[in-house]
Amino acid sequence: MHQNDKKFQVAQNVIEMIESGTLLGVGSGSTVNIFIELLVQIKSKIDACVSSSEMTTKLLKSKGFNVIELREAGKIPLYVDGADEANAHRQLIKGGGGALTREKILADSSDKFTCIIDDSKYVKMLGKFPLPIEVISIAQSKIALEMIKLGGRPVLRENFITDNGNVILDVHDLKIEQPIDMEKKINNIPGVVTNGLFSIRPADKLLISDGNKVIDI
Ligand code: A5P
Repeated sequence: MHQNDKKFQVAQNVIEMIESGTLLGVGSGSTVNIFIELLVQIKSKIDACVSSSEMTTKLLKSKGFNVIELREAGKIPLYVDGADEANAHRQLIKGGGGALTREKILADSSDKFTCIIDDSKYVKMLGKFPLPIEVISIAQSKIALEMIKLGGRPVLRENFITDNGNVILDVHDLKIEQPIDMEKKINNIPGVVTNGLFSIRPADKLLISDGNKVIDI
């Protein structure tokens, strides 16, 4: 099965679980874009959406969804998002699309975080996918040096500014044996806005499409 068909399969699985009157947190990326296309079929069940990026907001609005701010929503009952990598503990690397900070805020504000991926993203150990870190630009070289000390190879994402006006360092070759320690350590470096490890607040439900079926972890 083609990767896009797997994304479709796993997105469809979540659509079937959504109840009427839902206030929905919506992530970012190509899997979520497919999810939004499918969400149109059950639009009447969705009271409002809280969005994790300008791109998602634009797509949701173009489909006629009511998009509200997190401050209006308070707690989000259900947040649906993709990931770049996931392990058996439902810990994730996110931020391939650069929306990691708002995604982490939404995940942290949600009662239930359902992550949807295809099986190419399911790994034993996180870190093959370069870890994105959103940083305040004046701190970028200092943070890059810190990441080299941690065994990584930081690369500035070219021609990219986040929705929050910052830059992204993609850190290759990190051995992430203890995701929670690593997430805390990186977030403690002054100038780091956040890093793409979602391990302190992992997903509550990880749905993986392998082409035949959807596996629930
Ligand atoms: C966006 O910043 C990311 O966190 C995405 O959730 C992640 O990169 C997955 O995107 P795809 O569904 O496009 O692979």
